Amino acid sequence: MSLQGKKVILCVTGGIAAYKVPVVARGLTELGAQVRVVMTRSATRFVGAQTFAALTGHPVGSELFAAGAEVPHVELARGADLVLVAPATANAIAKVAIGISDDLMSATLLTARCPVLVAPAMHTEMWEHPATRANVATLTERGVHLVGPVSGALSSGDEGPGRMAEPDDIIAAAAAVLSTQQELAGRRFVVTAGGTQEPIDPVRFIGNRSSGRMGIDIAAEAARRGAKVTLVVGPITVPIPGDIDVVKVRTAEEMREAVLERASDADVIIKAAAVADWQADVHAERKLKKADGPPAIHLVPTPDILAELGSDPSLRKDGSVLVGFAAETEPDPAKLAELAEAKRASKGADVIVANDVSSHDSGFEVPTNRAVIASVSGTEDVGLVTKKALAAALVTRVAAALGRS
Ligand code: C5P
Repeated sequence: MSLQGKKVILCVTGGIAAYKVPVVARGLTELGAQVRVVMTRSATRFVGAQTFAALTGHPVGSELFAAGAEVPHVELARGADLVLVAPATANAIAKVAIGISDDLMSATLLTARCPVLVAPAMHTEMWEHPATRANVATLTERGVHLVGPVSGALSSGDEGPGRMAEPDDIIAAAAAVLSTQQELAGRRFVVTAGGTQEPIDPVRFIGNRSSGRMGIDIAAEAARRGAKVTLVVGPITVPIPGDIDVVKVRTAEEMREAVLERASDADVIIKAAAVADWQADVHAERKLKKADGPPAIHLVPTPDILAELGSDPSLRKDGSVLVGFAAETEPDPAKLAELAEAKRASKGADVIVANDVSSHDSGFEVPTNRAVIASVSGTEDVGLVTKKALAAALVTRVAAALGRS
């Protein structure tokens, strides 16, 4: 395993586990990474800055405001391949979750656009507190990676979850994040997410319950593996990670325009959006008056963006991979696979992800999905998994298809 040329910012915060982190700094350096250490003031009470400076060959940062013209957190964050926080105290996790930037560590984290890996370490009570649970959920939702904590002896003499992962495991997790990151470097992805809203009048629309989560998890996964990702997204309810370009749209027509404009440059187009199937043939310029009685709304189909891309190769880059979704009310994986294959043929897509939207734990508005992925190399029954795990399975399949083209 080589991390040659990788720039890692190692943020050390004030927990007793900080005494183990020089081993992490040394391990990463030995693998070829260029490690720059940032310490919070309280971290320096547990381990000396000099230790890190000697192990990494670089001075240690701790002050937000330097005497020179450089802005330290901007300089540090720019060009970094990974920010690793070890140990990450409950306080550090809370600051990152909220976006506080009152010291060099937190300002660096707010500035960085690269992957972030966090190794929490704290007493069990703090780890299990609802505030920490919520903060950790916010971080993972944003695409931050976690290693540990593990269960074991804590400095308080207690046993339980909250102990920092061992240095070797932290190094392995950092290497894993850094290596998957490269797989799609130089590739352009266009991902659509969320539902569209088709206006009836200036305040009313036809829409659906899509949260946007599936498309966002796919976009985050592709970005994590080094792709340059544009997310074309309808009105949604979940946050979007920072390292993704976002194009906001509302209607199917707007989504079509945004996707087609970028299609000829894209190596991969993933249509995870729940595009409304119908739109009103005319929409009222002024709000329809209730007193005028129920309006007769005549619906016409929206443009089928996926089918258009699938049927006209001139719209897309040679060798690109086109992925669509099929929302089905079908819990049986074998039948789901048949539906996926049928949709793959009818849309001219390379890959179709068919998901079952008939149960409470799969489909719209929930963090899990039951799905099969159909492509030219066969169908894969992914089963009931988190949308993040389904995103990872899909991106792996897409990366393999790109490798073949
Ligand atoms: O035809 P159906 O709506 O079942 O197909 C779903 C797939 O087609 C999804 O990938 C969705 O994003 C895409 N789609 C589209 N334009 C539409 C309707 C669906 O691109 N108007």
